Amino acid sequence: MKKGKKLYEGKAKILYAAPEKGTAIQHFKDNATAFNNQKKTIIEGKGILNNRISEHILSNLNQIGIETHLIKRINMREQLIKIVEIIPVEFIVRNIATGSLTKRLGIEDGTVLDKPLIEFCYKNDELNDPLIAKEHITAFKWAEENEINWIKDQCLRINDFMQGMFKGIGIKLVDFKLEFGRLNQGEVRRIILADEISPDTCRLWDASSEKKLDKDRFRKDLGNLLEAYQEVARRLNILHEETNIKPVEFGKLRSIKNRK
Ligand code: TMP
Ligand code: ASP
Repeated sequence: MKKGKKLYEGKAKILYAAPEKGTAIQHFKDNATAFNNQKKTIIEGKGILNNRISEHILSNLNQIGIETHLIKRINMREQLIKIVEIIPVEFIVRNIATGSLTKRLGIEDGTVLDKPLIEFCYKNDELNDPLIAKEHITAFKWAEENEINWIKDQCLRINDFMQGMFKGIGIKLVDFKLEFGRLNQGEVRRIILADEISPDTCRLWDASSEKKLDKDRFRKDLGNLLEAYQEVARRLNILHEETNIKPVEFGKLRSIKNRK
């Protein structure tokens, strides 16, 4: 598929115009960043794994009636998506307390929550994606009250589905981040799930050892990030020859520090 002009470049992905109106090509880069770009590296093959894992999860969600921006994966690093106007809110769903939640409130790391907790962050790198209340979302007209309620319902449905999917392969879904966007097709205006769902945007712990199988391996300098992502893909049964990522031996991860 012929790539058009670059529409947007983020920390881990690039969007290019696609031939058909209203669609774009989402390209997954190998860049790993944390703490709002303060820490960065390149991990060869990460983009390929995220493309494949995100395609798997989003197409499963499409199948259970949760509309997403994904049309189809087109190659190892790219997928065709519907263009949406992103709502500038990150919706964080948590099943187990860890990360910024435990730091912020002094809660013990690993505390299992009685029911999923949904938090809102304003999507703004300059401000470090601050935590906000529902009232900020309506006050600044990022979304209406009924839209927020609908998105929260979607978040819970997605959480239910993903928790079950990961439980079946011996992984605890600790928390994750979702982004939603507005699809404007003439008179039709709908909110759909956008962005990606991958080990970059989820916390995934092995169910028995609690080994981290997500981007915390990079955030916390635990090493072997690629092996962890490969392990997730392998358990999801989607790690095929086609991805062309050679299994990396323990400790032989090729990462080039501080290259953008
Ligand atoms: P946090 O504990 O750092 O707030 O992260 C909660 C979840 O959201 C975790 O699964 C990682 C994900 N996340 C992102 O995908 N992007 C972000 O920019 C941040 C801060 C978190
Ligand atoms: N995605 C954010 C960053 O790139 C934060 C994170 O995931 O930890 O800096």
